[in-house]
Amino acid sequence: MLRLEGIDGGYGAVQVLRGLTFAAAAGQVTCVMGRNGAGKTTMLRAIMGQVRVTAGRILLDGQPIQQLPAHEVPRHGIGYVPQGRRLFGPLSVAENIEVGLMTRHKGAATRERVLDLFPRLRERLDQRSSTLSGGEQQMLAIARALCLEPSVLLLDEPTEGLQPSMIALIRDTVLSLKAMGVAVVLVEQRVDAVLSVADRVAFVTGGTVAETCDASTLTPHSAQFARYVGV
Ligand SMILES: Nc1ncnc2c1ncn2[C@@H]1O[C@H](COP(=O)(O)OP(=O)(O)O)[C@@H](O)[C@H]1O
Ligand SMILES: [Mg+2]
Repeated sequence: MLRLEGIDGGYGAVQVLRGLTFAAAAGQVTCVMGRNGAGKTTMLRAIMGQVRVTAGRILLDGQPIQQLPAHEVPRHGIGYVPQGRRLFGPLSVAENIEVGLMTRHKGAATRERVLDLFPRLRERLDQRSSTLSGGEQQMLAIARALCLEPSVLLLDEPTEGLQPSMIALIRDTVLSLKAMGVAVVLVEQRVDAVLSVADRVAFVTGGTVAETCDASTLTPHSAQFARYVGV
């Protein structure tokens, strides 16, 4: 279980997060929605130790982690797929996977489990990652994060700009991870995509979570989507 309690934080003197409270449970998909600039990416970066947190606590299975340096956070089993794709361009698919495995000293068994989830990557192990399609690059970014065998996986708008077949593959991956007991945190802007995978939905505005709902209580016409997402 990941919990954020009353988080303030931001960039230099600019405060973005304001008393933000959020939770993500194992075996659940918790979606995060909100307008551009609401603070969704900043929230994920705060979890990863990449943004200065000036108040509040971040707890992983009850242990405070907000004081950890950024390079330590993945070693505690939190995987992060940033918005946009940030791969090691000149490296091959196989080399990217190796980089992922090294962080927590995982080996061949993990590698095989991850590649079983992404047969398209297995077929392209020697290919330079910069020559993959957009959807394949996103798969590789997710695969690399899964090489941690994370208990928590943060995905920041993973389907942005992808074609429908790739979006469906990423949704299937999210559902597989949920079934494996991972706490999945998914920032996603499309209502249909959220309603097809979410257990809980947190609505972010002005750097705080204004409302959290069980996905089963939401429909595409729910007022929250108009209020916080503007659809
Ligand atoms: N590196 C940065 N330095 C200063 N301000 C930033 C930086 N990154 C984001 N911001 C600001 O923080 C606010 C929240 O941005 P962000 O978390 O990216 O929103 P979202 O992901 O919800 O679209 C915005 O006002 C944005 O301009
Ligand atoms: Mg963002």
